[in-house]
Amino acid sequence: MTIRTLLNQRFQTAMSAAGIAGECNPNISLSTREGFGDYQANGAMAAAKQMKMPPRDLAQTIVDNLDLDGIADKLEIAGPGFINIHLSPDFLARQASAQGAVLRQGQRSAENPQTIVVDYSSPNLAKEMHVGHLRSTIIGDAVVRVLEHLGHNVIRQNHMGDWGTQFGMLIAELEEHLGVGQKPEMALKDLEGFYQQAKKHFDDDAEFATKARNYVVKLQSGDQHCRELWQLFIDISVAHSEEIYRALNVTLSHSDIYPESAYNDDLESVINDLEAQNLAAEDQGAMVVFLDELSDKNGNPSPVIIRKSDGGYLYATTDLAALRYRSKTLNADRVLYFIDARQSLHMKQVFTLARKAGFVNPGISLEHHPFGTMMGEDGKPFKTRSGGTVKLANLLEEAVQRASALIAEKDPDLSAEERSEVARKVGIGAIKYADLSKTRTNDYIFNWEAMLSFEGNTAPYLQYAYSRIRSIFRRAGVDADTLSAAILIGEPQEKQLALKLTQFDEVLEQVAAEAYPHLLCTYLYDLASAFMAFYERCPILKDSVSPDLRNSRLQLASITAGTMAKGLELLGIEVMEKM
Ligand code: ARG
Repeated sequence: MTIRTLLNQRFQTAMSAAGIAGECNPNISLSTREGFGDYQANGAMAAAKQMKMPPRDLAQTIVDNLDLDGIADKLEIAGPGFINIHLSPDFLARQASAQGAVLRQGQRSAENPQTIVVDYSSPNLAKEMHVGHLRSTIIGDAVVRVLEHLGHNVIRQNHMGDWGTQFGMLIAELEEHLGVGQKPEMALKDLEGFYQQAKKHFDDDAEFATKARNYVVKLQSGDQHCRELWQLFIDISVAHSEEIYRALNVTLSHSDIYPESAYNDDLESVINDLEAQNLAAEDQGAMVVFLDELSDKNGNPSPVIIRKSDGGYLYATTDLAALRYRSKTLNADRVLYFIDARQSLHMKQVFTLARKAGFVNPGISLEHHPFGTMMGEDGKPFKTRSGGTVKLANLLEEAVQRASALIAEKDPDLSAEERSEVARKVGIGAIKYADLSKTRTNDYIFNWEAMLSFEGNTAPYLQYAYSRIRSIFRRAGVDADTLSAAILIGEPQEKQLALKLTQFDEVLEQVAAEAYPHLLCTYLYDLASAFMAFYERCPILKDSVSPDLRNSRLQLASITAGTMAKGLELLGIEVMEKM
């Protein structure tokens, strides 16, 4: 149990003993200022207002009824009725040890395990993955790792865009390349270039355009030849994405791909269902739903086209079918979508309509977790120097190259092999961390120097902090993973470090609930800083330090290293023993 939960329970008991209504929340939070204790309970004020009582008096009554024996040393009432809680060092020492034991067990078991479907990455296969897919892929993956670590049943859904009108043009182009004897892998080596070429062909050549349109229809009606060309294209495009996933250290596997085309056979029944329920109606030949729930400020309902007048289905139709599958077949308790903020209206429409139509079970939680745009130094969406889209593959390559140059300068002693390993982990880690550490919903500016800096809230700083702790163990000749010593808390820096260590699970639970990985980043950065403060003030390997104290400090260091490694692993970032 986290300390916050424990305090919450004890306060709830005290509040009900003090005659306060059950719905009043103790409102436990971490103290934000030094001298205000470690945690605060701020619920007395709201309760007092409701009971028309002086808040400080009510706070005193709560404290009188509170049993925090063995947990807190001191309680004080401050300001208008805050209750400051000073935790006992012995309690913190025990909690920190318990945290160390949990880390060694690996994955936890959730008190209420849920089935959680997570839709992330989901690139369109017509083109190569570009920076626009980076955020969904790495933010989604971090949240998935945290949910899984907490013991939930996570089902990844890579909703790849493998269907739609562009594929007519692409397979017609592919057919021509193969016709002159080219191998498919060669023709599609540069997917981005291939797309541009096909597009130009389509725009300039009327005959080709007609054929491409024709192929869309043939493809959708199951024509063998078109299907084969399409499959060839899809397989190569998927392989491109999977290369990126490997390079990015992302956990998506082949079996997580459940693309748009998987719902082809469900689309007609989606329309029929909506029509039968009088939710959809024909409008100028198209099938449209008007949602009053999402009306604009003039009272006009929000239109959702679910079938075009030419009979084609849309992005929203597929998403409705996907939601029905996720709720009724996968039995999801929650469905999380990591998609660009620009698709917020689309998601709102799909969620509203799915609920209205009974496509999802009533208790399900449908969550769009949007994110902002990655910007260049000029404050405009990130582009190449010539204004093109930046391929993810090139970006990752550049990251590793830059990291390699940096490492060569910093650690000339590393062997070439070690250096390439470190460069890969640092370069990829830097890109991921720079993104994950920003509040998801904001835009952010992509900056190589900042993300590769060894100072501040960056991956290299945290990776370096980890290696440094591990080097203490090498010098001490002690195995950090099997060490088992009592923690003794004397110095304030020891207390602060133990307190930080005990908050790991609290942070993970918050990340799981709100899908904000930056909370974990901030935590890890604070933990590293708490360790640095401890390390400066509390010698470990000096002769003057008694064996018990030395082992206690080594124990704190070992739990810190374990927490950092686990935290970074949950962000999808690798650590190393030496750097
Ligand atoms: N393929 C879409 C895009 O690249 C993202 C799909 C997100 N998932 C979904 N179920 N709509 O914009």
